[in-house]
Amino acid sequence: SAVPAETRARIEALKAERDAVILAHYYVEPEVQAVADYVGDSFYLAKLAKSLPQQTIVLCGVEFMGESAKLLNRTKTVLLPEPAADCPMAHMVQRATIDAARAEYGDDLAVVCYVNSTMKIKSWSDVCVTSSNAVKIVRELPQSHVLFIPDRNLGRFVAEQVPEKHVILNDGCCPRHEAISLAELQELKREHPEALVLAHPECTAAVLAEADYIGSTAGIIAYAEQSAAQEFIVVTVQGVLYELERRCAASGKRFFVTRTPPTCGDMDGITLEKLVRCLETGSGAVEIGVDEAAAQRAQATLDRMLEYAA
Ligand code: 13P
Ligand code: SF4
Repeated sequence: SAVPAETRARIEALKAERDAVILAHYYVEPEVQAVADYVGDSFYLAKLAKSLPQQTIVLCGVEFMGESAKLLNRTKTVLLPEPAADCPMAHMVQRATIDAARAEYGDDLAVVCYVNSTMKIKSWSDVCVTSSNAVKIVRELPQSHVLFIPDRNLGRFVAEQVPEKHVILNDGCCPRHEAISLAELQELKREHPEALVLAHPECTAAVLAEADYIGSTAGIIAYAEQSAAQEFIVVTVQGVLYELERRCAASGKRFFVTRTPPTCGDMDGITLEKLVRCLETGSGAVEIGVDEAAAQRAQATLDRMLEYAA
C-alpha cells in the first residue's frame, strides 16, 4: 500500500478543488483505503455520509453504498470511482416474495432489507439493516413476523439470535462468502489450533458453526484488536486484513485466511487510478432516476435504520 507521495498530493489538491471527502469500505484495495479520509463497515459509511460538511462524497465501494449515501444526502454529489462495481446479492429478491408475505401476515409483518440491496428493493421494505445492527433492530421491531431479504445467511443468523420472532428467509446470498470452503477452514484450524475464528454473517451455516465470533467487518476488526489472543483466522473478504494488520501491528498478532483467499471481484474494481480519475473528471455521479416516490420510500427505509440503530 505504498502510495507515491505525488499521488497523495494530487488527491489532496483535487479534494480541495471539489470540496470532496473520500470514504472507503474495508474490502477495497489497501492503497485506496490508505488515501481515504474515512474507512469503515457499511453502517458506519451510511451514517457518516449524513454528517459530513463537504459537498462531494466519493464512495470507494459498490453501487448500493453510493446509492444509500445519495438517498440520505440528496443535495450532495456522490461519486463512485467504479460505477460498474455492483454487489450481485443486492438484486436477489423478487417483488412477488414480498407481496406473498405481506398478503399472508398483513400489518404484523416487517420487511427487513439488508443494506446490500437496490433502491427499488429498499423502496419495497420497511426498515434497512446492516450486519452490525440487524440483530438489535429485528429484536426491537413491533411486528412478530419478519421477512428478511435478500441474504439468507445473515437472515438465518439473525433468526437464531432473535428466536422470539418468526423470521422468513429469502433465497439470496453473497456468492463470495458462500464460496468460502468449510474444508479449507477446518484445515486452517488444524494448522493453527490456538487461533480464534472470526467470521462474517454472510458465510454459510456450516462455516459459522466453526466461528468464535460472528460480526460485521468493523466488528471483526474491533474484536481482534481487543482480544487477548495472538492468532486469528479471518473468514471474510481479505480486504479487512489491511486494517487488522494496521491496528494490530504493534501487538504482533497474526491473521490467516483460507488457502483460497476470499475476494470480492466487485470491490476489487475500485482502484487508485479510478479514484484519481473520478476526482479529476467528476465522473461516476450517482443519479436517483425518475421514480421519486420509490426514492422517498427507500430513503425512509434507510432513515428508519438510523433511528433504530441510534
Ligand atoms: P459490513 O462491512 O457491513 O460488514 O458488510 C460487508 C459486505 O459484504 C459489504 O458488502
Ligand atoms: Fe456483495 Fe459479497 Fe462483495 Fe459484499 S463481498 S459487496 S456482499 S458480493
